[in-house]
Amino acid sequence: MTELVHTRAELAAARDGLTGTVGVVMTMGALHSGHETLLRAARERADHVLVTIFVNPLQFGPDEDFNRYPRTLDVDLEICRRAGVAVVFAPVVTELYPEGKPRVWVDPGQLGEELEGQSRPGFFHGVLTVVLKLLHVTRPDLAFFGEKDYQQLTLVRRMVGDLDVPVEIVGVPTVREPDGLALSSRNRYLSPDERAAALNLSGALRAGAAAAAVGADAGAVLAAAHAAFESGPSGARLDYLVLTDSDLEPGPTAGPARMLVAAWVGTTRLIDNTSVQLAPYS
Ligand code: PAF
Repeated sequence: MTELVHTRAELAAARDGLTGTVGVVMTMGALHSGHETLLRAARERADHVLVTIFVNPLQFGPDEDFNRYPRTLDVDLEICRRAGVAVVFAPVVTELYPEGKPRVWVDPGQLGEELEGQSRPGFFHGVLTVVLKLLHVTRPDLAFFGEKDYQQLTLVRRMVGDLDVPVEIVGVPTVREPDGLALSSRNRYLSPDERAAALNLSGALRAGAAAAAVGADAGAVLAAAHAAFESGPSGARLDYLVLTDSDLEPGPTAGPARMLVAAWVGTTRLIDNTSVQLAPYS
């Protein structure tokens, strides 16, 4: 039985009823198989799973898709039921922000201005602010975030470490379509031609990782990824394609690294990333 609650008071009562460990999966709804994988990971690690469904206005810029963002509560609830979720918290905006936008926000630091933060100013201030609030109201032992949003996962880990939030953050690997496209709620906006162009993101990452696997250095890995992006179907406009260390610090030259890509396909912005193993110094 999945209990649906909308208010903080109902959530507090439902949370008090959960004995044992609680894992939270925070979402903006429009659940897909990527989320189902998060729910499964949470079920495996925690006694009870609590899901939040909240399209957070703080993380949408003025030109972004807050109103257009898909809202599919009935389908989402069915997915949660099937996944054995104990509680779904789906508040309206005024329940979380009764006085409008908060006066105090979480500052993500320098990394919040880079990569996604450069194209979406203020995005991670909005994300971290709502994540911290949701951690406080749900009081989980574990919180699960997809590696698909790798910068978000990294910043949530930093926030929890830097601000001593008592929760374990668990990263869950990205789920892909058979042809490599990373699952995303935004994929539903893509026309068939755009869907084909969207494959340039995962194609670039695959090419970079393959080059690294045969010993290419960081420069050659990036060059291989760029070449794959440029030679794929037209219609994708690259925003960034970078190689960082696993904590998103610049300039890895050997060992574990992360390659991240963002591109516009039509009016839809897509992101993807993968781990890359750069050859050790010889
Ligand atoms: O990844 C998301 O869906 C959102 O950024 C999150 C973590 C639910 C915060 O609104």
